[in-house]
Amino acid sequence: MPKITISNLNHKQVVSHNNSKTVLNIMHENFIDWMHACGGKGRCTTCKMKILDGHDQLSALSDFEQKMRQASRLNTDERLACQCTIRGDVTVEVPEACKLPHVKYSY
Ligand code: FES
Repeated sequence: MPKITISNLNHKQVVSHNNSKTVLNIMHENFIDWMHACGGKGRCTTCKMKILDGHDQLSALSDFEQKMRQASRLNTDERLACQCTIRGDVTVEVPEACKLPHVKYSY
């Protein structure tokens, strides 16, 4: 089963049991607090994650992600957790701007 490793959450790993679930849904199912100000509608970019490994294991950019790229609100090494699904292992990092104040990050 595909797994997500979150490097700056002490390399915590979560497993996807359903390829149609978004990364944000997988995080929430595993009780990981992940910012999502617009409620997962692809409009806020607060669920952004930096992809450290496994770019090719992510679904294609959604229309919302393409719009954010064009508006320079989403770098080429970033994806919106609420918009993408995974089909293989990925390693991600929570960007500084998307860190929650009450969560203890490892760097
Ligand atoms: S939660 Fe707002 S863009 Fe993903």
